[in-house]
Formats: sequence, structure tokens, C-alpha cells
Amino acid sequence: MRISVPAAVERLRSGGLVAMPTETVYGLAADALCEPAVHAIFAAKGRPADHPLILHVADADAARAHTHWDPRGDGLIDLWPGPLTLVLPRRGVPDVVTGGHDTVAVRVPDHPVALALLRGVGPLAAPSANRFGRVSPTRAEHVEAEFPEIPVVDGGACAVGLESTILALIGPVPRLLRPGAVTLEVLMERLGPVDVGGDIAAPGTLPSHYAPRGRVLLVPAGTPGAHLPTLPPEEYARGLYDALRACDDAGVDPIVCALAPPVGIGVAVNDRLRRAANR
Ligand code: TXA
Ligand code: MG
Repeated sequence: MRISVPAAVERLRSGGLVAMPTETVYGLAADALCEPAVHAIFAAKGRPADHPLILHVADADAARAHTHWDPRGDGLIDLWPGPLTLVLPRRGVPDVVTGGHDTVAVRVPDHPVALALLRGVGPLAAPSANRFGRVSPTRAEHVEAEFPEIPVVDGGACAVGLESTILALIGPVPRLLRPGAVTLEVLMERLGPVDVGGDIAAPGTLPSHYAPRGRVLLVPAGTPGAHLPTLPPEEYARGLYDALRACDDAGVDPIVCALAPPVGIGVAVNDRLRRAANR
């Protein structure tokens, strides 16, 4: 079911769930300060309760209000609205959002619909609007196929197509927890050294994740004849999940995927392909 922005605001304010477009992927949103609504997200997705959600906020001031802000974030907030999530010590965010962690992941999404909902409702907790472990949705149709009962605001196809970059500003050295459109190079230009991966739990970065039903078989970049051929990185990212879903719909198994050139968002494309292949 498609709904308008005002209807979505109304529904979110009364504790309901709404699927919303962002520039990265569609999110399954609830009022972050309404605990029963956030519980309903976990139930709908089949997501384990200790997997924390991203707190979406309308602007950097709202991010500061819900975190113990880290001055290293000052050098990054011009990237908001945008596909960058910061993990910071939490302030006044319910346990159900953070999975009981003492940190919270926050971001300001770059999509007019998401921003309108955030202004109308306040902070929204939203994971990607897919069932746990499956491919993220990048079109309203993808959400409807997986959650026929959840209303979705149609914001068109997502411009980025992959989930946001996640950067933890917790320890002495910033740590990249999930690659995305905001690249490691950009982060290091701003911050100096950045660690990659490692010991902070980011459960969405389980080695096996983002998986279609068909097995994913990886081949080197440029290999001819792949179901998913190598494309320029941004184009590959934008169409990746739609292409994996189309392969599933056509019953393709195995799905032969050529890696992306490992530059720019190509690093994140390859990260998601490897996780999809690893199951
Ligand atoms: O682009 C995105 O980030 C999309 C759109 C909807 O905003 N959202 C998204 O949410 O990808 P989700 O729930 O599918 O992935 C969120 C990731 C998970 O890997 C989770 O473990 C991590 O963020 N995360 C959330 N809170 C965290 C925290 N406090 N510390 C470490 N990782 C955290
Ligand atoms: Mg997800």
C-alpha cells in the first residue's frame, strides 16, 4: 500500500510503522521514542533484539541532542544530509533502539521524503526495510513484495543504492564499521588515520548478510558473461540490489557476479557481494 507523506506522519505519530525512501535504501521507520513502535520493527523484520537500529534525525543539532557529541564529528557534518552514519555515546535514546548498547548510530538521510517525515515526527529508528539477512530494498516495489501489510511512501529508486557508511567515533582512532558511498579516503582526508572493521559489534556486518535466495558466485572484475557484469562503481551500486532481486525472481542459481573496480563506492559494492556470496 502506498501512502502520502501527511498520512505517513500521522501513522508514525500514532505508533505505526512506515517504509520510507532514503538516498541509500528504503528504511522501515518507527518513532524512535515510542518503544512499542520500535519493538514492532524487530517483529516485522525477524531481527534479533540485540541488533541496534540507526537513529535517523532531521539535522546535526538533533544528532547532538541524542548523543554525547564527539568534536571529531564537526569535521564530517557537512556530509549531512548524506550516506554517513556516526556511532557515538548515546544520550536519552531508548534501549530498544540501541539493542542495549551504550552507543547510538545516527544519520541525517538525504531524501526529501525522509526529511519531511523527520521534521513532522522527530527522530525515527529505521533499519533497511527487508527481512533479516536479505537484500535491502531500493524501490517501493521491493518493500511491497516483502512486507505487503506495511504502508510505503514511494520516493522512487534510491540514488545511492547501498546502505550508508558507518563510522564509530568511540575509541582514540575512528573506526570504519561498514563501507558505503562516503569512502575511507574521504574520511581519512578529514580525520587522519581510520581503523577498518574490527572489534566493535556491528551486527549488520555479519559475514553472511544481504543475501539473495540464489547462491552468489563471484568472478573477477570485467569477466564477460556474468549475470551482474562490472559497471562503473556508482552505477553498479545503484542497480545492485534490484539486479539481485531480478535474478531471484527469474530463479537464477548460481548468480554469477563480477566484482566492481575497487575504487570509490566500488569497495562497498564488493563488500556487499562478498557477504552475499558468504552463506
Ligand atoms: O543506509 C542506511 O544506513 C539504511 C537506511 C535505511 O538509513 N539503514 C540501514 O540500517 O542499513 P540497518 O539496520 O539495516 O543497518 C544498521 C547497521 C547494522 O549493521 C547495525 O549493527 C549498525 O548499523 N549499528 C547500529 N547501531 C550501532 C551501534 N551502536 N554500534 C555499532 N553498530 C551499530
Ligand atoms: Mg539491513
